[in-house]
Amino acid sequence: MELLSNQPMYQTVPEKYIFPPEKRVVNDIILHSVNFPVIDLRGGRVDAEGWCEIIGEIMKAGKEFGFFQVINHGIPEKTISDMLQVCDEFFKMPVEEKAQYYSNDLSKPFLLNSSTTYDKSETRYWRDYLRLVCYPIEEVIDSWPEKPENFRAVLSEYTLQVRELSSKLLKLIAEGLGLDKDYFGGDFSTGKTQMNINHYPPCPDPSLTMGLLPHCDRHLITLLAQGTVSGLQARYMEGWINVEPIPNAFVINFGHQLEIITNGLLKSVEHRAVTNSAIARTSIATLIIPKTDCLIAPAKELLNENNPPKYKEFIFSEFIKAYSAASASREDVLEFFK
Ligand code: SIN
Ligand code: FE2
Repeated sequence: MELLSNQPMYQTVPEKYIFPPEKRVVNDIILHSVNFPVIDLRGGRVDAEGWCEIIGEIMKAGKEFGFFQVINHGIPEKTISDMLQVCDEFFKMPVEEKAQYYSNDLSKPFLLNSSTTYDKSETRYWRDYLRLVCYPIEEVIDSWPEKPENFRAVLSEYTLQVRELSSKLLKLIAEGLGLDKDYFGGDFSTGKTQMNINHYPPCPDPSLTMGLLPHCDRHLITLLAQGTVSGLQARYMEGWINVEPIPNAFVINFGHQLEIITNGLLKSVEHRAVTNSAIARTSIATLIIPKTDCLIAPAKELLNENNPPKYKEFIFSEFIKAYSAASASREDVLEFFK
């Protein structure tokens, strides 16, 4: 078992973590002056005008960036800080304590792993991660670790809150598309919810390594808590935007399934994680996933003569089967839908 979080701090980057020059980030354009959208959800529930404004902002950000942050979203600060803290504590536990959770079997509902890449290259990510199914809670809670002591309680509360926020956002998105507000409430969003808890220790030379290579998310939407340390970058035109952390905000982005259902209106945009030399970073991505037997297709209500379907219809499990064998590039994945 090899975990970055249990290594003494490296002075130089070991060979196996060094990406070839074309995959490194140093020469990429970072778009410092682009305003990444931040949407204030406060008031959305009471004020009819407020709803419209928020919906308009979500649709605008969704079409232009495929990404946005939300603030005043209703999840208590304590729920988020407790979750980030308990995850940090997990990664800090002694290696013997963590060994029981370490696995390469991706079918497990809870596993700890390190450094595996999406593109099957030999080079390893500068990242440890926990991957777990967090919902329905009663079906999976027994697979969660009992240590740190409050892990299960904190994770349960966080899961419930984040799922509620996802429902709220999906309603706003459905309204923004002109669909019934519960359009996404059924099979599209009630598959097993997954959480990827990423831990990126400080890296002696961030110019040589990657936390996560560029990828698009494949499910419906992602809600990411990224604490206070930056590292997430989202693709924008020919460059990348640093998604700067806002305390207690969530970063929201769309997955391929939402892109298909909206017939390409709301895009699944590439993003990646870079490393830094100063401080460990923990991020928590909650993935809202369709039921495995859910039929995915461009919503009929959105199609017309001028907007014919751009994607085929398919059962979600077929996509997962095909996609797990493919690399993660957006082009490769989109081939599947043609
Ligand atoms: C992700 O793509 O899962 C999020 C990456 C991060 O911000 O750590
Ligand atoms: Fe992602």
